[in-house]
Amino acid sequence: MAPHDAIGAIAEEAISWRRQIHQHPELLFDLPKTSALVAEKLKEFGCDEVATGIAKSGVVAVIKGRRGDGRTIGLRADMDALPMSEQTNLPHASKVENMMHACGHDGHTAMLLGAAKHLSATRDFAGTVVLVFQPAEEGGAGARVMIEEGLLERFGIDEVFGMHNEPGLDVGSFAIRPGAIMAAGDRFVVTLRGRGGHAASPHLTPDPVVAGAHLVTALQSIASRYTDPFDPVVVSVTYFNAGRPNALNVIPAAIEIGGTIRTVEAKTRKAVGARFRDIVTTTAKLFETEAEIDWRPGYPVTVNNPQMTVAAISAASSIAGEKKVDGNWPCTMGSEDFSYMLEKRQGAFIWIGNGDSADLHHPAYDFNDGAIVHGIRYWTELVSQRLNG
Ligand code: NI
Repeated sequence: MAPHDAIGAIAEEAISWRRQIHQHPELLFDLPKTSALVAEKLKEFGCDEVATGIAKSGVVAVIKGRRGDGRTIGLRADMDALPMSEQTNLPHASKVENMMHACGHDGHTAMLLGAAKHLSATRDFAGTVVLVFQPAEEGGAGARVMIEEGLLERFGIDEVFGMHNEPGLDVGSFAIRPGAIMAAGDRFVVTLRGRGGHAASPHLTPDPVVAGAHLVTALQSIASRYTDPFDPVVVSVTYFNAGRPNALNVIPAAIEIGGTIRTVEAKTRKAVGARFRDIVTTTAKLFETEAEIDWRPGYPVTVNNPQMTVAAISAASSIAGEKKVDGNWPCTMGSEDFSYMLEKRQGAFIWIGNGDSADLHHPAYDFNDGAIVHGIRYWTELVSQRLNG
């Protein structure tokens, strides 16, 4: 059987795994069913090693090539779902209330399992492939926890690659860019405190509502006046909590505002964070209020290594044709915890077309099963090009 036919047959199986995972979504680090299915398949394929319980639900498999020693390449898929209700009415829709694979991590897991099956059967490479199935991409920094538990050293990973589906990009197409491909996403909650008092005597008490209103406006100057217009920055205040509708004659003692800041350059992230603090403290002082900042750092910028991006483009072009690979795809302001792996090892993160589907994190979204064969081919081609002895 020709290799492509073999992968075609594996893809059919992978579609059934994908739908099985889709019906039983699980959240964050708590993925008992998903990780059990993954580990069982990997053992069945005859991988040299299958390690479980890394970052609680993470699974790692090792496959050694039959052409001798070489580098060790890490391939990563995320496995977790989202706390939302599915509205697809599909036969394989989620069976769990308020849990849904709305980001396609079911498809990512199935594609990497498909690649594992093919690679363990063929082993036509020099070196080692490490397949990383991680929990908690959606807010839990599962990738960082796996790294903290020694993932990269324990398995000797030299370079790492990740893949995510992209709605709106044709099935069978790929998109990538060197450098920043996804943003850093930090969050904040600011409390402004006065003393509280009678609304008829504004001269007797600091007013945190007026301070907060000025602060929301002042924060807009970060993206519009402070940073380079060619360096993307988003500052969104998404939360403002002040006073009570049944106490309209009361100046509240404290108010809260919150939101998110997105940046794509590490130095801009740092500078914008410092500017944010300056604006909060000086605006608070201007209105004689006290500021308390709860800064919640999110995932860092996802930065593709230039040479590894060339390698990813080469693998994708071999299987899809050059015309179906966009090597200069725009950076998005979303964020992704594969960034932690790319901080530690050279590698690249690529988008795979999900066709004309609902958007990621939408209740009508479903991973496109037609993409699975292309994803498995990408992974196996990448291994054969990177570990060619
Ligand atoms: Ni995702």
